[in-house]
This record gives sequence, C-alpha cells and structure tokens, in this order.
Amino acid sequence: MRLGVLTGGGDCPGLNALIRGLVKRGTHEFGYEFVGIENGYMGLVEPGLAHPLTEEDTRGILPKGGTILGTSNKANPFSYATREDGHWVERDVSDQVLLRCEELGLDGLIAVGGDGTLSIAHRLVEKGLKVVGCPKTIDNDLSGTDQTFGFDTARLIVTEALDRLHSTAEAHDRVMVVEIMGRHAGFLTLESGIAGGADVILIPEIPYSVESVVEKIRRRSTRRRSFSIIAISEGAFPQGGELAVLDTAEAIPGRGVVRLGGSGKALADLLARHIEAEIRVTVLGHLQRGGSPSAADRVLATRYGCKVLDLVSAGQWDHMVALRAGEIIAVPLSESRKERRVDPAGELVRFTKSMGISFGD
Ligand code: F6P
Repeated sequence: MRLGVLTGGGDCPGLNALIRGLVKRGTHEFGYEFVGIENGYMGLVEPGLAHPLTEEDTRGILPKGGTILGTSNKANPFSYATREDGHWVERDVSDQVLLRCEELGLDGLIAVGGDGTLSIAHRLVEKGLKVVGCPKTIDNDLSGTDQTFGFDTARLIVTEALDRLHSTAEAHDRVMVVEIMGRHAGFLTLESGIAGGADVILIPEIPYSVESVVEKIRRRSTRRRSFSIIAISEGAFPQGGELAVLDTAEAIPGRGVVRLGGSGKALADLLARHIEAEIRVTVLGHLQRGGSPSAADRVLATRYGCKVLDLVSAGQWDHMVALRAGEIIAVPLSESRKERRVDPAGELVRFTKSMGISFGD
C-alpha cells in the first residue's frame, strides 16, 4: 500500500510526532510506503511537491514544532486561488488533485488538519478518493473528538505567559489585557485563564459588558489589589458589539482564511474611558503555536498517527481518528465539520464563576 500524507491549515505542536508515529508503525507493522505531500493540498496541485517519506526522514523530529511537510491554509482545491493579471482568480482544481494522486500511485491519502482540511478531505472522498483524516488544532474546537493535539502545549504556553505577566502587573499596579488565540472558540482562553489565575476571562461564547469588567477591576482595587489580569479570546466581543470587533477580521482571496484579532486593544480602549489604572495589552499571537510539543501532545499525536493505520488497513476511508472517553476511535469525517464551543452553563464555567472570577456577563 502506498499512502500520501499531508498536513493542512495552521500548524500546531505535535504534527511531527504524528508523522513519525504513522511512518514508523506503517513501515514496521504494515510494510506500507509513504509519500510526503508538501504544503497541504497545494502539494497535490503544484508540481514537484511530493517526495518519498521514509523512517529515515522522521529521525529526530519528535520534539520539533511545525511540520516537516510544511502546511498551508490557503490551498483549497475546490476554490484554488492563483494570481492572474494582478487579480486573484479562484478555480475548482479537485479533478487535478485526483489525477495527481493517480500519477503518484497512491492507494490512499492521510489528511491531517482542522475543520477546513478535513471537510475538503470529505469532499474529495465524495469524488472517489480514499482519504483518512486526523484532527489537529490548538483551538480544540472540533466536535468529533474530545481533544486535539496542540491544545495542551498552547495551554502551557499561555499559562506561562500569564504567570510572567502577573509579576510585572503587580509591580506596576497595572491592568494587563492578554489576547489569546482560539478563533471563535474560548477553550484556550478559559483553560489557560484558569491555570494562569486570570481575574477576568472573556470568551466568544459569553459576550461581555464593559461595565461588568470595570466593576470587577474596581472591586479588586478596593481590596488592596490594584492590578488585574484579563484573559481575552481573540474572538470575544462586548454585548451588542459583535460587529465592531469582527470588523477587524479580513478574508483575503488567495492569501488565507479569516483573520481575527484586535479584541484586546478594543477592550483596552473601552476600559480606558472608565478606569484610571494603566492598561497594557499583550497579544500572544503565533507564539502560542510554535515550539516543542508537550509530552501529552506527543503521546496523543503518536496515538493518532498509529491509529490511522488501523483505519487504512480496515478500509475505513472517509473517517478520521478521534479521542473519545480516553480511547482513540474512528468517526465519520463529516463529524469534523461540526464546531465545538465552550458551554456557558457547563461545569468549568460555573466553578470558575463560583470562585469569583468574572466572565464579564
Ligand atoms: O486555528 C488555529 C489558529 O491559530 C487560530 O487560533 C487563529 O485564529 C488562527 O489559527 C490564525 O491563523 P493564521 O496562522 O492564518 O494567522
């Protein structure tokens, strides 16, 4: 069996651990051959981006961030953008992808990615390609699986940042606003906010009121604590102010997906009208996705990589591997399209509120 492997969408720590697990088990136990496809689906459209992927290539990659295959979040074969006469033109090149897989002699494709990459995989299956998927994202917002690898590492990075910001906030009596990734989901902000001892946690699932945040900051200063740490998701917005914040999002044909950001600055501007304390904004940005994966993410990614082969050998195409109640199982690829969100009435939010931490609602 000859399998193509690609990583698509934004990178996250653990991708290399997955590739290593897949290639090692695939080679040793199944005798399969692998072809590494570079830069996500782009590698199946553009020439010269497919190469043999052997165990030798995976040596030493386990602790490395990024992906040895490269990735892209702007290469959708169903609306593939190219620049023509100074303009971006989008075309459906999915037939070309099928042809390329045939030319490469692939018996199947392993697509590792987030909701975008996996829903493209499902559409390619509908066109006759044999694909198994594997979920990944630091946002942890895929409904098919209890956890995606990359999330644990990002949570550690954000927690450490919050710890560090605490000491400087306290020294200067400042309000520190920390903008955290997660797109439209608040898992990363919620969990790292809890772990990093944030005083206010603002997530997209619970629109906040500026008055409520101001009140929390004021209550803290009357208790002789004149600094505050506010963890805010990049997609969090004030009540009734969704459009104002989402105005900062842009979709650029051929250049990538919708980009969020600016929620920290927007909040700081609103707060400055009400409080006298100095306010500083830290946007953690892509630091949250870079660097070496945590041990937990290495293990989860390795398990995913190994499990993919069970699906392949059983002919369970159009499925992806997923973690459910501690087990790695197969779920239909179509599951990946349902996005998961923090439950505002869930236990974690309730317990956090019960400790006096504000969600600004
Ligand atoms: O989905 C992962 C993620 O890191 C989001 O948290 C963030 O909104 C987005 O990707 C950033 O995308 P880009 O790498 O294109 O800036």
